[in-house]
Amino acid sequence: MKVLVTGAKGQLGKSIRKIKNQYSEVDFIFTDVEELDITNQDDVNTFFDKFKPVYCINAAAYTNVDKAEIEKELNFKINVTGPENLAFACAKTGCTLIHISSDYVYNNDSDEIMTEESNTFPKGEYAESKLSGENKIKDVFSRFYIIRTSWLYSEFGNNFVSTISNLCKRKKELNVVNDQIGSPTYATDLADAIMKIITLDKGLYGIYNFSNKGFTSWYDFAKKIVEIKKITCIINAIPSSEYPTLAPRPMNSRMSKKKLIDNLNINLKYWEESLKTCLGQIS
Ligand SMILES: NC(=O)c1ccc[n+]([C@@H]2O[C@H](COP(=O)([O-])OP(=O)(O)OC[C@H]3O[C@@H](n4cnc5c(N)ncnc54)[C@H](OP(=O)(O)O)[C@@H]3O)[C@@H](O)[C@H]2O)c1
Repeated sequence: MKVLVTGAKGQLGKSIRKIKNQYSEVDFIFTDVEELDITNQDDVNTFFDKFKPVYCINAAAYTNVDKAEIEKELNFKINVTGPENLAFACAKTGCTLIHISSDYVYNNDSDEIMTEESNTFPKGEYAESKLSGENKIKDVFSRFYIIRTSWLYSEFGNNFVSTISNLCKRKKELNVVNDQIGSPTYATDLADAIMKIITLDKGLYGIYNFSNKGFTSWYDFAKKIVEIKKITCIINAIPSSEYPTLAPRPMNSRMSKKKLIDNLNINLKYWEESLKTCLGQIS
């Protein structure tokens, strides 16, 4: 079974590569922009005709949410045209698309725990592009799993966990916002869930939320990183109003994972447990 992974040099792509040996029945094709630029429709079609993947995991994305406010066209090309190109190629060749989206698509100013049916109200270029990317896929075909995830981190590249770990080595105190609530997602857990979806494919296509279990704030997340790593660094709680960013951040990123658990039999790990696992891998 051939599984194409796009954006394979990113956090999620590297996490899938990390667990690939658990799936001897799968013939993985790992690509990043050098091998397959998802924004180029001809290249995508040629690639699918040549390699004939049965599943395509789209881990490629434009993920710098603040820079997206400036690099609008590039952000749109990668997060909207890219998934659309993959959907067309998948539809033509009978491939199933597993596309990764974001909690940023909700941001509907409610206090609810978001289900996949909750209102979407994306704010900012990145958020809007992630929802448009989803909609393009839905316009093309129905053989997709769109997974909305949040606060993704891993032992690879730059993310909140590596940033806090590094800053705390140099600074005695850090200010972290405490009024944005959501769930961290360890990229290895997301990779495991994606591979479970593929290997057990029940044909229950659609949109699914995925993150680790439990809710927290960025402030408590930072405090837990410092606690586990036994670093002496004071974490101060601040409101989002004291940490302005170019792109708006959702205040409420709490997502229900009931649909994923019920339909796809995915077990969720608590965020603290997965954070310990990740920090253990780093040290
Ligand atoms: N990070 C988060 O907190 C977060 C939260 C919610 C959802 N998500 C979503 O989760 C998914 C995975 O995120 P991630 O953190 O693993 O992303 P990432 O680390 O930024 O990786 C994305 C990869 O895609 C590559 N790429 C960019 N343009 C491409 C193109 N035209 N063709 C092929 N590859 C291209 C990037 O290359 P370059 O580095 O060279 O650009 C990078 O290697 C994304 O869809 C993201 O939107 C992330």
